[in-house]
Amino acid sequence: MPEATSGRRPYMVGNWKMHKTVAEAREFLQELLSSLGDAGDDVDVGVCPPYIALAATVEELDGTGVGVFAQNMSAARDGAETGEVSAPMLLELGVRGVVLGHSERRRDQCETDRSLCEKVPAALDAGLEPILCVGESEEERDEGEMERRLRHQIQEGLQQVPAERLAEVTIAYEPVWAIGTGRSASPEQAQEAIAFLRALLGDRSSEAAERVRILYGGSIKPDNAADILGQPDVDGALVGGASTDASDFAELVAAAAG
Ligand code: 13P
Repeated sequence: MPEATSGRRPYMVGNWKMHKTVAEAREFLQELLSSLGDAGDDVDVGVCPPYIALAATVEELDGTGVGVFAQNMSAARDGAETGEVSAPMLLELGVRGVVLGHSERRRDQCETDRSLCEKVPAALDAGLEPILCVGESEEERDEGEMERRLRHQIQEGLQQVPAERLAEVTIAYEPVWAIGTGRSASPEQAQEAIAFLRALLGDRSSEAAERVRILYGGSIKPDNAADILGQPDVDGALVGGASTDASDFAELVAAAAG
């Protein structure tokens, strides 16, 4: 990984999506910790369990340095929001951060750029580290609309974040067509899109653009990771399917360690 040249520490985050009960999470984490060895020393590592397994995951990972992330949260601190979870609730459990704007939530749960405009600063203000997901659909890419789509998502999602706090947000570039399809972006496509995102951030703050970590996500596996992670602007990955297998995820962390 390019930490030596970029100064950015590699970052590997596993998004379990709606996988693993509490008992399965505990068993998986034991296996992951023994598989990780010292690969985690040079890489920031995080996992994103379903809400119900957050507390057990925090407990299992206590003292290991592996961070725990929720997969969504409400922008409100509390209120009449049936089925929602707030930042103070996550913080109370010892959660480090939260994934926001995943394309599955945009597609299936009506998550909008408007709501992310509130959620990202709400997470930061509460002391949670946001991972903001962006990415174009296949149709948008084919029609030459990728840059317009990414620009819109970044502008809205980060609109209320002051320039001096931009680098506290992690961005995940997840092209929708690569998620769960087995068809990852090529290393060149990942680099091109992530460099574009970094340039967009540079319009707000050149210092933040240098510091912000931008991850790739979409069908990343042990056999394609090294080439994608070796790109100069790719700082790590948000991993779906392969993060639910302890030895695959440990291998991915080792690939990021270089
Ligand atoms: P896959 O790695 O399963 O394609 O999922 C990527 C993703 O959506 C991570 O958030």
